[in-house]
Amino acid sequence: MKRKKTMAALLTAGLILSVNGAYAKGPEAGVPNTNAASAFDNKIIKKISADNMYNHIAYLSEVPRQAGTPGELRGVQYIESHFKQYGYETEVQPFPIYTVVRNNVSGLLEIGGENLKPYVFSGSYSGEVTAELVDVGKALAGTVPDSVKGKIALIERGDITFVQKVQNVFDKGAVGVVMYNNTGTSNEFGQATYGQNIPAVAITRAQGLALVEKLKNGTLTAHIKVTGSGVEEKTSYNVIAKMKPNKNKDTGQVVMIGAHHDSVQNGPGANDDASGVSAVLELARVMADAPTDTELRFVTFGSEELGLLGSYHYAGTLSADEADRIVAHFQMDMIGSKDAGGDNKANGLIMYTIDGKKNLVTDLASAAGDRTALGEVVPYGQLGRSDHQPFHELGIPAALFIHSPLEPWYHTPADTLDKIDKNKLQETAEIVGASVYQIARPDTPALQHSRVAPQPVDYDFENRPPGA
Ligand code: BES
Ligand code: ZN
Repeated sequence: MKRKKTMAALLTAGLILSVNGAYAKGPEAGVPNTNAASAFDNKIIKKISADNMYNHIAYLSEVPRQAGTPGELRGVQYIESHFKQYGYETEVQPFPIYTVVRNNVSGLLEIGGENLKPYVFSGSYSGEVTAELVDVGKALAGTVPDSVKGKIALIERGDITFVQKVQNVFDKGAVGVVMYNNTGTSNEFGQATYGQNIPAVAITRAQGLALVEKLKNGTLTAHIKVTGSGVEEKTSYNVIAKMKPNKNKDTGQVVMIGAHHDSVQNGPGANDDASGVSAVLELARVMADAPTDTELRFVTFGSEELGLLGSYHYAGTLSADEADRIVAHFQMDMIGSKDAGGDNKANGLIMYTIDGKKNLVTDLASAAGDRTALGEVVPYGQLGRSDHQPFHELGIPAALFIHSPLEPWYHTPADTLDKIDKNKLQETAEIVGASVYQIARPDTPALQHSRVAPQPVDYDFENRPPGA
């Protein structure tokens, strides 16, 4: 029979400190906190080594890990090999990413001997076509005439996306796109995507309306030539490590600990986010032998910097049942900078949730902050911008652990190893490790019977923008 750790059960156990803002009295409410870590915490946190984390960051930040580059793959292989070494079942999950190429782009649009000097759509296919121009209005779905087959579509901007418009005429066999603006005097707009293998260019509203008028009185032939533009497909990866709980004591639930391993282009990403990856690896190491009744799932995501692509991909591969079994997602992103956090309390550490509300993750971690190296409760705030977002959207309690305000090296080539603070790494890893173990260890929620039950804490919302 499966034993579910419901919110109510954890609340009774003194593990969840608030539900809807109402605080439950813990077993020793009112007793001043001594900051002493519980015996349970010690099983995990005593083993955490900031030196190990530092060494992971040293290796990972030797080369940039931009998604889709050999640098990412080098990091992925390092991460997977360490998970394996610690005894985890691992999976490297590839997914495609698409990057716009703009390399000495040139665009030509000749109609009646005149070059209209068009703007080349971002991602436009490079190619040369000469064909009759057909006015297809706004190219809304279901309105594009079959007669556009083999022709160049003249389209008015507006109502639906550029990509949808290009797709609608592409599907009807058009060989090129000329789009005119729906306002103003600019021709700088437009976007096409992977697989839309026809050149697409933009012109001003005045140019477009003139063509529409001419087409009423006869046919026009257009010549488009685009070079240096396109969309490239590359592969990025998520790295997943699982540890199943003790067979005879399995709640069926899953706790996730995540970070992103990709960096920005030319950024060594020591803090963003080799720091988070280093804590994921170190927690995987120290928790590998811990007795649990909950599955531990450690994941490093690719392509976070391109718009949380890896975490969305991962979330999209979860069945409804699997998503239901995930009870918490702890995301660590930028947890080790000497120069972040200012003089805020908790050494600048903050837990951001998508909705700005407390949840299981923030409740457990704020209390853990008080019992572990940091020695203080951790405040929370509201922010997205990292891989906790897709988990929140699945209804999973999730939070981002980060120091705020950000360091000045954020997303620069100066995000290097020498800016890393081992104390911050240690504090954050202890907090996440102790919190995860609260959920995963086999004796909870029977915790109310224990003398070492954690103290409930009160912690505050902070309207603290990250900066940058
Ligand atoms: N580590 C940052 C996210 C971040 C920055 C979180 C500041 C909180 C405060 C992350 O890698 C990043 O740069 N994210 C992008 C957003 C993403 C959706 C492309 C960002 O914030 O610009
Ligand atoms: Zn990041």
